[in-house]
Amino acid sequence: MKRDLMRIGVSLPANLLNRFDEIISLRGYSSRSEGIRDAIRNYIVDYEWISQQKGDRVGTITLIFDHSQRGLVDELTDIEHDYSKLIESSLHVHLDEINCLEVILVRGESQDVKNIVEKMMALKGVKHVKLTTTSPGEGF
Ligand code: NI
Repeated sequence: MKRDLMRIGVSLPANLLNRFDEIISLRGYSSRSEGIRDAIRNYIVDYEWISQQKGDRVGTITLIFDHSQRGLVDELTDIEHDYSKLIESSLHVHLDEINCLEVILVRGESQDVKNIVEKMMALKGVKHVKLTTTSPGEGF
């Protein structure tokens, strides 16, 4: 099968690209392009997993962010206030001079969980967002 390949130009911070190159080398990828294709596929799978969540969920959002990013802490606080009905509890740890870790316990409609996660991950300075969800189930 012949695939249409398109070229794109992307600007990345040097330290991010250097680390990516180290990892694709350690993993034995034949090219940077193949590593980027896999990373994009994972991004899509992650999006689809979040989108397919249904019903009431309980879960945690784990967030690592750069608190020195201008305006970021205020933006995160605004989002958390907008979703205060969804948030049961949160924990904040100052990891080092720059990075903060936040674990937010959410409980509510899966669509709201999806929306808050996507708002957070789109913010500049948010480095990693990980959602886990579960459900107590019914009738057992
Ligand atoms: Ni902090």
